[in-house]
Amino acid sequence: MTQLPTRPTTDVKKTSTGRRTFLKAATAAAAASTLTPALSLARSAHSYGSDEIKIVVIGAGGRGSGAVLDALHTAGPVRVVAVADAFEDVVRRCVSVLSKRLERAKSRSTQFADKTFDVPPERQFFGFDAYKKALATDCDLVILTTPPGFRPLHFAAAVAAGKHVFMEKPVATDAKGIREVLAATRSAKEKNLAVGVGLQRRHERRYQATIERLQDGAIGDILLTRAYWNGTTPWVRPRKDGQTEMEYQMRNWYYFNWLCGDHIVEQHIHNLDVINWLKGGYPVEGNGMGGCQVRKGRDFGETFDHHFIEFTYADGSKMYSQCRHIPGCYNEVSEHAHGTKGYCNISGAAIHDHSGSLIWEFGRGGGGGHQQEHHDLFADLRAGRIPNEGEYGALSTMTAIFGRMLTYSGQKLTWDQALNSQVELGVRDFASFDEAPPVLPDADGKYALPVPGRTKVV
Ligand SMILES: NC(=O)c1ccc[n+]([C@@H]2O[C@H](COP(=O)([O-])OP(=O)(O)OC[C@H]3O[C@@H](n4cnc5c(N)ncnc54)[C@H](O)[C@@H]3O)[C@@H](O)[C@H]2O)c1
Repeated sequence: MTQLPTRPTTDVKKTSTGRRTFLKAATAAAAASTLTPALSLARSAHSYGSDEIKIVVIGAGGRGSGAVLDALHTAGPVRVVAVADAFEDVVRRCVSVLSKRLERAKSRSTQFADKTFDVPPERQFFGFDAYKKALATDCDLVILTTPPGFRPLHFAAAVAAGKHVFMEKPVATDAKGIREVLAATRSAKEKNLAVGVGLQRRHERRYQATIERLQDGAIGDILLTRAYWNGTTPWVRPRKDGQTEMEYQMRNWYYFNWLCGDHIVEQHIHNLDVINWLKGGYPVEGNGMGGCQVRKGRDFGETFDHHFIEFTYADGSKMYSQCRHIPGCYNEVSEHAHGTKGYCNISGAAIHDHSGSLIWEFGRGGGGGHQQEHHDLFADLRAGRIPNEGEYGALSTMTAIFGRMLTYSGQKLTWDQALNSQVELGVRDFASFDEAPPVLPDADGKYALPVPGRTKVV
């Protein structure tokens, strides 16, 4: 049997934006019988107990399929009732793969006896309006795993339809999208709807234990943090005969900002979020540089292949952030903190003093975050608790968008300028693949790259 992991009782004292604080606060408040209105609402929320939780997925590619599998590994009855994607081939593949995976799992273990894949052809939806049809089904929880450009539209629609949501990071690609996600998050709170965001490090025990120690002063005052996502270039899906420009960009969403936000938003958000979590806030100012040194040409859209940013937090401390997609270079995906008494490799869960002596380390194990975030979300719903990770999901996404604004523009900007930016990337509720996408190639089939010093971001 899959065991629901035991939650540590001592963690996250200071994670003011984390949902674990909410849970801790809820417990304390209940004990004192002095419930705030928000907590009172949460306590009166519907508890699924051992009832079936019906789920749909919108965006049925790699992560969408993975998130459904994670949901099917949680404790208690779960029924998948609909699959939606922009493309028919993706829907058919997802249905075929997931139904077979569940059948095989059931034949091997009774653990899956209460899991059902119930997605007949009439609940397999494709096209730009597939999300509306999926939301109109009888479901409790919606998994949003399209490219992030569509997240604000789909999230707002899911909340309006009264559904609990698990949505992947990033949650938007421009500041307008962030403002929409923040508004929908507030609405979800009012409606008692759960919101999980796929920043899975927040659910990993080793991260939780490390952040708790740092917030408790294990390395003194934190003066400097560093965050890295230096790796290689992801997939390219070559242009096919007969494809419209819209279909080409949708299939190659990684290289178009209106869909992806650039890799600083799409990947590096994980590392930036860890530092925001540690700091209990978001950068107030920044400057940066970046460009496209290697990844040039028609196949690579309009994104940079490297970014470096110096962010400043309200207490004056800095975060140095690097992300790069250039093969053959030094690769690193990690986060670090330096304080008055020592330093910490956060991703390595190890703390040293300034002499280099190890003060503390988490050691092996602790489990991965992808499965844990689903264990936590479904356990909360079954217990009648309403987690809401929408705000930190939005503001850590905004941190990454802020970083992109700094490298694209070459300017020094404030958080408020960035968050209030009226420069939009042009995502709309498209109706057809014949519509023109927000960016178009030139006569040579190339896309315009941002030019620091000239590109306007606010
Ligand atoms: N937390 C993590 O570690 C993690 C890991 C992988 C991916 N992700 C996130 O998951 C999201 C999806 O990534 P992926 O790797 O699964 O990509 P993917 O390309 O495999 O899947 C995305 C799917 O969304 C579909 N889609 C695009 N626009 C749509 C629309 N308007 N309506 C319905 N479907 C639409 C695409 O056709 C595609 O099948 C991204 O936001 C990514 O950052 C998170």
